Amino acid sequence: MDINKLPTIPAGPVGYLRRPAHTPVDQPAPNPLCTLFGIRYPIVQAGMIWCSGWRLAAAVSSAGGLGLIGAGSMYPEVLREHIRKCKAATDRPFGVNIPLLYADLDKHVGIVLEEEVPIVFTSAGNPALLTPRLKAAGRTVVHVVSSVKFARKAQEAGVDAVVAEGFEAGGHNGREETTTLVLVPLVRDAVQVPVIAAGGIADGRTVLACMVLGADGVQVGSRFVCSAESSAHPAFKEAVTRVEEGGTMLTLKELAPVRLMRNAFFQEVQAAYARGAGVDELKQVLGRARAKRGMFEGDLDQGELEIGQVSAAIRNVLPAERIVQGLVDEFHTAAARIGLNGRSLMAPWQHPGPDQRLPK
Ligand SMILES: Cc1cc2nc3c(=O)[nH]c(=O)nc-3n(C[C@H](O)[C@H](O)[C@H](O)COP(=O)(O)O)c2cc1C
Repeated sequence: MDINKLPTIPAGPVGYLRRPAHTPVDQPAPNPLCTLFGIRYPIVQAGMIWCSGWRLAAAVSSAGGLGLIGAGSMYPEVLREHIRKCKAATDRPFGVNIPLLYADLDKHVGIVLEEEVPIVFTSAGNPALLTPRLKAAGRTVVHVVSSVKFARKAQEAGVDAVVAEGFEAGGHNGREETTTLVLVPLVRDAVQVPVIAAGGIADGRTVLACMVLGADGVQVGSRFVCSAESSAHPAFKEAVTRVEEGGTMLTLKELAPVRLMRNAFFQEVQAAYARGAGVDELKQVLGRARAKRGMFEGDLDQGELEIGQVSAAIRNVLPAERIVQGLVDEFHTAAARIGLNGRSLMAPWQHPGPDQRLPK
């Protein structure tokens, strides 16, 4: 059979309908994100301060997803060390997340370029700031957005894909409070680049839901906090598995909106609001190094505990490989339940050969 002579279907407008015009109908088109990153499953492990070092990134990439090292909580030379260890631990592509709000930004970028990291996810800032420089250096660039306006800006800046991150998500968040269910289709319709959904995804059903909404894949954060390889403190991981529905809330909008577990520190912030605290007083209440204290050092009372709403559905700590495989297996089960062929949404990109792999 000459597969090139089989009939083709035209490229569709969104997500699972979209396939390159040359793809025969009996073969699912490779998922655009799998092709873009050179990975097996369109599942990105989110960059997360204090939680996503080389161990987690390497485990996720080795399992077929895309692991990200979170640069936000790392001194520049610590970031270099994590990149080198990640390269030594996996021959699969991985990336680095650079939030645009930290003082070490220029040094982080310099290290990512020197260490030849192929994929960079930027977040929390203007996508035009770094994208042209990273693209000129031949990197694949993705920017995290929480609104259609910023998705368009990111596309204009030249990114290869956007992460559409809804209000449910853990960590810093958009002021617009747009939920994943609303944001993903809006962003899908507004941009032509691949869309990665984030916020509220911790099992295969939610992966499928996002792809039906038009996403090409997902970025998963909170679920990977509770992985064996995450660098979160064991007490924080354990606390996440006990969060109940309603146990997180977005706060500190006047500084940088962030979704937190409702612990004693969170109550202090609420008390400050109740007495009409302004920005300066809120800054004082927040103080310094709260996130490290909570998530990395395990101070569950006085630390800042960033986690998503979906923590209410996370009940255990698992190896990252099992999380990735679980997401994929549950995705196919959920697709089959509604009569969809999951492979048409998640067809892996075929690895062309060793030259595509990162040098050790
Ligand atoms: C503990 C924690 C730390 C985070 N730190 C970052 C970060 O450094 N940079 C970033 O772009 N997003 C950060 N985020 C957001 C994630 O990258 C991701 O988009 C989000 O967790 C997805 O929502 P989910 O938690 O519902 O899966 C963080 C999230 C969590 C839970």
